[in-house]
Formats: sequence, C-alpha cells, structure tokens
Amino acid sequence: MTKEVVRKGLSLGERPTHKDSSALRESRFGFADVKALHDCRSSMKRPKKDQVTPERLMQFGFAYAPPLIIGAAVSNKVFDSLATGAKTVAQLSKETGAPVRGLRAIMNALIGLELLKKDRQEKYSLTPESEAFLLSNKIGTLAGFFAMVSTHILPDWLHLSEAVKTGAPPIALNQEATGPEFFSILVENIIPMSYPAATTLGRSLGLAKKREPLRVLDIAAGSGIWGIALAQQSPLVHVTAQDWPAMIPITKRTTQKFGVSDRFSYVEGDVLEADFGNDYDIAILGHILHTEGEERSRKLLKKTFRALKSGGVIAIGEWLVNDQRTEPLPSLIFAVNMFIHSERGDTFSFKEIKGWLEEARFKRVRKLEAPGPSPLILATKP
Ligand SMILES: C[S@@+](CC[C@H](N)C(=O)[O-])C[C@H]1O[C@@H](n2cnc3c(N)ncnc32)[C@H](O)[C@@H]1O
Repeated sequence: MTKEVVRKGLSLGERPTHKDSSALRESRFGFADVKALHDCRSSMKRPKKDQVTPERLMQFGFAYAPPLIIGAAVSNKVFDSLATGAKTVAQLSKETGAPVRGLRAIMNALIGLELLKKDRQEKYSLTPESEAFLLSNKIGTLAGFFAMVSTHILPDWLHLSEAVKTGAPPIALNQEATGPEFFSILVENIIPMSYPAATTLGRSLGLAKKREPLRVLDIAAGSGIWGIALAQQSPLVHVTAQDWPAMIPITKRTTQKFGVSDRFSYVEGDVLEADFGNDYDIAILGHILHTEGEERSRKLLKKTFRALKSGGVIAIGEWLVNDQRTEPLPSLIFAVNMFIHSERGDTFSFKEIKGWLEEARFKRVRKLEAPGPSPLILATKP
C-alpha cells in the first residue's frame, strides 16, 4: 500500500485519507524511495546480507540520472506531448522537433522509472503519476522542479568536493543578494511538497469550524502555499505573508491563481528584521529553519513567539533527522544540500527544535503527522 500512495501522490485539492496518511507516514511522501530507486529499479540482483559486493555502489554511480532524465523529458515536452494521447518516438520527434535517438533513450529509461508505459505498437503513454505531477500546465506540477535540477541545483552540487575541502559553500542562498533569484524559480515548483501538509494542518486546527476571524502569519512565505491552503478552509482566515521584497510579487501571483488574494496582506523584509506585527492565531515557518541555521532559527522562534497571541500556535515544516543524525536518508542528503547552498544551513532533529521552542517559551511541543518530508512540529504560546 505504501508504494501505491507513493505512486499516486496527492494532487492539489485532494485530501489525504486516514489510510493514505498512515502509508505516507511510512513512506514520507515517497522521499524514502531514494533508496528504493537503487534497490528495486535496477536489473541487478541484490546481494545476500552477509556478502560484500560492489553492486550497491555501482547503482549509486548513476543515481544522478533519474532527475536529469525527468528534467530532459520536461524540457523537451515529452510529458506534455503525451498528454494528448499515446505516441511513437517518431511522432513525438515530429511534434517536439527533438531528434529520435535521444528521445528514444530517455523515453525508454522513463519506462524503467515507471513514469511512461509502452504498448505493443511502440506507442508511449503517461502513467497516473506522470500525468498528475509532470505536465507543465497543472497547478502543483513538479515539472518545473525537475527542469531546474540541471540549471539551478546540480551545478552547485558539482562543487561539493571543493566546498568540503574549504568549508565554504559555492553559493549562499540565505542572503538577499543571491537568494531571490533562486527562490523565485523554486517556490512555485515546491508547492506539491507543502500543500498536502498545509491542508492537514488546517484540518487538525479545525479551521472550518471556527466562528471568529483568524489571523495567520506565513513567515518566509515563498509562493504563499501554507497560508493559501489555510485560507481555502475558512473565509474567516486572513493571512499576512512575509518574505524578501523581490519575492512578494510571486506570492501575490500565487494567491491570485488560487483565488484567495483578497485575504492576504504582505510584510517585506528579512525574517529577523521585518516587523511581523502581533496578535496572530497561527504562525507558520515552512522550510525556512534549515536555511537559517541554529543561531538565527533560535532568534526567529523567539520573534515568532512575540508575534502570536496567547493560545496561538506555531507550525513548522522541516526535513527532520533523528537524534543521532543517522536517518532518514532524504533528510541527511538535504543537509548536504543546505551545506552547498547556505552559510549555516542544516537539517535538525525534533529534539533540537523542541529545545529551541521551549527556550522561546512555547509549550506543548508536539508532532503532527502530515504528508511531506517529515511530520510537522506544533507548539502553543501559553
Ligand atoms: C524553501 S522556500 C520555502 C517557501 C515556503 N515557505 C514553502 O514552504 O513553500 C524559503 C523561502 O524563504 C525565503 N527566505 C529565505 N531566507 C530569508 C530571509 N533571511 N528573510 C526573508 N525571507 C527569506 C525565500 O525567499 C523563500 O521564499
């Protein structure tokens, strides 16, 4: 069942069922499949437990290939062209203008990745997963994310050896001079990572049943997807979205696409410098602590505490590691991503963040199971 949910994913507006949620808890939104990719999708046999063989390492040797193949297919309109019906490689070549040889290679690899199917007439078609998440014109598509892997993510990773040697990241996205150029491309492309979790958060806070106006502060809002998902659940929700000035037009654009722009206002500036205002019922920190690092995160939690009213709730979306920093693998890999992309970024454990929340005087620090890389962390201002 876990695999079923991973493949199916959750599209925008679709709410995870209880059954889905427990499967997602095990699979963590399919990110656990980084490992499965190496285990299952290779024709190589798995070595017996007590045998040391080179197979696993050899599989890692091409681990960079799937996102690049998906990105190449997105950029060459493979998924978009197949949205109108099954086609042969020659038909697709005619439609996209890309020569047959490369197209055939990536399309067959996509069959191996279970993102395309091929029938007896050599016609390729989409799978439910590629149809749901890899068509470029759908809200909540991951197509843009895969297209930017080769242009905006992988180039920085190519400096990893040197960065480890010197301790200096090739680029610091936590700074206003460099961050917005990257984040303005990223934020809409990661909507599918946070929308289902934000929907779960709104339901767990019972927003639909509230009878009083609710003030939400969405810190480092990016696309604004956390606030948008909450605003969708009740007309009484008003969201204040905060981000660097260059990012706010993107937030505004997304709120318009989702039809909730009339319930948003904006605060521009650095997370530690901007004036958040106060008396909020809910404050959201969606995927910002890992960029900020420990020292600034602790300051930010204290500042957020001051912005909430008594009884207000803080909700944190993060890539959590265990206390020993030995798992889960996607969060460990994401820590390397933050090393490459920031001066102090990292992934943290629940215990660490709980400690910082308590230091900021929050109470009832707890986890909320939700789709996404990790459970959400919630705490209440007494
Ligand atoms: C990974 S994105 C997350 C966006 C959104 N919260 C989400 O979960 O989809 C990080 C966001 O934080 C913003 N950001 C990063 N550092 C910031 C800072 N020091 N001050 C203000 N915004 C910052 C970026 O512009 C970007 O929108």
